[in-house]
Amino acid sequence: MTRGKFITLEGMDGAGKSTHLAWLPAFIEARGIPVKLTREPGGTPLGEKLRELMLDKNQKLNPDTEALLMFAARREHLDKVILPALGDGVWVICDRFTDATFAYQSGGSGLAWERVEVLESWVQGGLQPDLTLYFDVPAEVGKARTQAARTPDRFEREEHPFFARVRGAYLRRAREQPTRIQVIDGTAALEEVKKSVEIIILSNCFK
Ligand code: TMP
Repeated sequence: MTRGKFITLEGMDGAGKSTHLAWLPAFIEARGIPVKLTREPGGTPLGEKLRELMLDKNQKLNPDTEALLMFAARREHLDKVILPALGDGVWVICDRFTDATFAYQSGGSGLAWERVEVLESWVQGGLQPDLTLYFDVPAEVGKARTQAARTPDRFEREEHPFFARVRGAYLRRAREQPTRIQVIDGTAALEEVKKSVEIIILSNCFK
C-alpha cells in the first residue's frame, strides 16, 4: 500500500485558508484518492476539547502552556488519526499543524523558537507534512477580513503587532523549509489563488 500524502494549510486568520479547504478535498478525490480532512487544534475528542479551552475568549494562557497543550493534542492526533490514515493510503489534509505553533506561540506570543523545536522533535521525530500551503497576507488584511466575517475567537482578538509577528514567523519557517512550504499570495483574486493551489498540488503530489 502506498503511503498517503500529508498536506497542511497555514496562514493567519483571514488569509483565505477556509475558502480553499472547501474545494481541495474534492479536487483530490476526483483523481481517485481517498481524503481525510482534519484540523488543529482538534481532530480527536481530546483535541476538540482542548480547542474549546484554548480558543475561549475569556482565557489567557501562558505561551508555554499553550504550546504544551497544542503538542499534547498533536501527539493524539498523529497517533489516532493522521498516521493510521496515511498508512491506509488515505491523503490527510490538515487545517493547521506545527507551523502554526511556531507562528502563534513563538512569533505571536514570544515563546522561544527553540522550545517549539524541542517539542516538534519530541512529538514528531522526523515527521513533517509532505506539502504545506501557506497563504500569506499582511496583518492588516487578515484583521480586516476576520472582523468583517465573524465574531473573533481569542487569537483573532489580538492586535495588529501580534499578527505582524505571526506572519514574520510563518515566513521564517518558509525560508527554513522552502521545499515543503509553498508561499501563496493570499491577497490575489480568489480564482488566481485557487489556480496556484491547483498547480502546486498537481506538480508536488502527482509527480
Ligand atoms: P482556526 O480558526 O484557523 O481553526 O485556528 C484556530 C486558532 O488556533 C488560530 O487562531 C490559530 C490558533 N493556533 C495556535 O495558536 N497554535 C497552534 O499550534 C494551532 C494549530 C492553532
